[in-house]
Amino acid sequence: MKALVLAGGSGTRLRPFSYSMPKQLIPIANTPVLVHVLDSVRELGVSEVGVIVGDRGHEIEAVLGDGARLGVRVTYIPQDAPRGLAHTVSIARDFLGDDDFVMYLGDNMLPDGVAEIAEEFTRKRPAAQVVVHKVPDPRSFGVAELGPDGEVLRLVEKPPQPRSDMALIGVYFFTAAIHEAVAAIAPSARGELEITDAVQWLVASGADVRASLYDGYWKDTGRVEDVLECNNHLLDGLAPRVDGQVDADSVLVGQVVIEAGARVVRSRIEGPALIGAGTVVQDSHVGPYTSVGRDCAVTDSRLEGSIALDEASVTGVRGLRDSLIGRAASIGTTGPGTDHHCLVVGDHTRVEVAA
Ligand code: TTP
Repeated sequence: MKALVLAGGSGTRLRPFSYSMPKQLIPIANTPVLVHVLDSVRELGVSEVGVIVGDRGHEIEAVLGDGARLGVRVTYIPQDAPRGLAHTVSIARDFLGDDDFVMYLGDNMLPDGVAEIAEEFTRKRPAAQVVVHKVPDPRSFGVAELGPDGEVLRLVEKPPQPRSDMALIGVYFFTAAIHEAVAAIAPSARGELEITDAVQWLVASGADVRASLYDGYWKDTGRVEDVLECNNHLLDGLAPRVDGQVDADSVLVGQVVIEAGARVVRSRIEGPALIGAGTVVQDSHVGPYTSVGRDCAVTDSRLEGSIALDEASVTGVRGLRDSLIGRAASIGTTGPGTDHHCLVVGDHTRVEVAA
């Protein structure tokens, strides 16, 4: 089996971050989402991975390289514009050949793994096997209507009145039968070739299409609140480790990781929390549920439930919570005796100050 990992797209829901980086490189527990995805693919025993990339492909290549570090072989497949999930299958045709493959959305996190579902697909080998997850409100998803043995009777995209709570999530298993389906469908109203339409085409043509329930933790990291929530979930499983320096005036509580080259001075780090390599935390209280990237500076501040990307700095701000701080961004104070805020706010940025 091969894998097709989708790391193109436009990422409009994750602005402003997606202006300056592919959203699939946003770190969750200090590791890019896409690296978590490739780990999950490798755990299926798959080593040939095609990665769909858009106009920021070079940044993805800089992180994944040829894949050797992650135990896979990566082939990059450029997509000229986000023309839909099914479009990626058509441009990957030469890479995929007639092999079975798992299609994995590069911004989806399924940390409990899909090994059992992959095994079921390999054993029964239906034309396609989709992965479904029970969601409270399926109206914004592709929804599967299932028969008694998990056979898909119908797939409906964003139904106003869903007939089941089984939403399609970001992993699909396909045989080569999908290629005929992708060639047969037309772009949807939003102008994209939809994978739901291709799978529904298979169902309508009488092919065996099955669904498997994934009942572990799942998150589409498409929005800031999803990134933060997923980070909280992964930090809950953090194995404590101190490779950096912690001075005698600092306290570490609970599951805390201090990476090599990080320094904690006169501070309290409350787990779960992760302090990246080269970062300096001084006179501050960090955590719980916080990951700070590499080479950051947190000084005289209070940071909780947040993620700071590499080289960010926070100085003199006591009360930052549920925040996502971009690469080399700086948050500070306007200085003694002042009572105003001073902001340099980029496009589509969101700032919330205490009322
Ligand atoms: P989405 O999150 O559905 O689409 P998007 O990236 O355009 O995001 P937004 O809605 O915020 O604008 O895409 C799911 C995954 O598939 C994501 O990793 C991007 C990737 N993708 C491609 O590689 N090519 C495509 O043509 C599309 C639509 C998505």
